[in-house]
Amino acid sequence: MLIVANWKAYVEDVSKAKKLLALSKRLVRSSSCTIVLAPPAPFLGALALTNKSSVAFAAQDVSATLGGATTGEATAPMYAAAGATYAIIGHSERRAAGDTDALITQKLLRTLAHGLTPILCIGEHERDTEGKYLNTVREEITIALSVLSPKERMKVIVAYEPLWAIGKTASEAIDQRDLGEMVLYIRKVLAELLPGKSSSHSLVLYGGSVEPGNIRALAGGSGVDGFLIGHASVDTHLFSSLVGELT
Ligand code: PGA
Repeated sequence: MLIVANWKAYVEDVSKAKKLLALSKRLVRSSSCTIVLAPPAPFLGALALTNKSSVAFAAQDVSATLGGATTGEATAPMYAAAGATYAIIGHSERRAAGDTDALITQKLLRTLAHGLTPILCIGEHERDTEGKYLNTVREEITIALSVLSPKERMKVIVAYEPLWAIGKTASEAIDQRDLGEMVLYIRKVLAELLPGKSSSHSLVLYGGSVEPGNIRALAGGSGVDGFLIGHASVDTHLFSSLVGELT
C-alpha cells in the first residue's frame, strides 16, 4: 500500500517535522507500506537531503512557471533537487485557492518533465442522486490527462478525494462499497485514456478522513492502492496506528 502523508500547513516547526520523519522511518521498516511524506516546502529539503531511509518525499504543489523572475514560486526542478520524487497536483485546497484546469495541466507537465511522479487529486464537491459526481470525476481526469503523451499518462497516480469527505472524521468518510465502485469507475476512465492494457498498472489512491478506525475496512476489497492522509498524518499516535492497521 502507498501511504502519502499530506502535512498541509499543519506542521510549522522543525522539531515536529523531524519527529514525524523519525516515526515514518520506523514504520517503513516494520510494515510493508511505502511511505511518502509531503511536508511544507521549507521543510522538504531539510528533511529529504539528509534522508537515507526508504521514506520518499512529495511536493504539496509545484509552480506552473518555468522559474526565473517569479518571486515566491517553488518549481518542479527545485523540488527534484531538494529530494522529492513525487508531487501532489490539483489538491482541492489548491483548486479552491485558484488552480484552474489549465494551471493543473501546466503543473502536471512541469512535474513530469523533471522526473517527479504526479499524484493528481480529483473528486466531487458533493454526491447527488443522479450520478453527476461521476461526470465530475471523469471530466477532471480527462482534462488533466489529455495534454499528456501516452507514456506520461501511464506515470500519473490518481488520488480520489471527494471534497465532502475531507477534514472530517472516519465515520463521515466514504464507505468501502462506495469506494470500491469509484475505484472501478476511475480504472474504467483510465482504461479509455491509456494505451493498451497499461491502465491496469495505474495506481488509484483515496483521501478524505482516513483514520485508524476506517483504513483497514477501506483497504480491504475496495481495490484501492493506497491513501492520501491529511490530519491523521501529523499526529504521531494516529499515524502509527493507521499504518499499523495495514500490517
Ligand atoms: P484529511 O485530508 O485526511 O484531513 O481529510 C486529506 C487531504 O486533503 O489530502
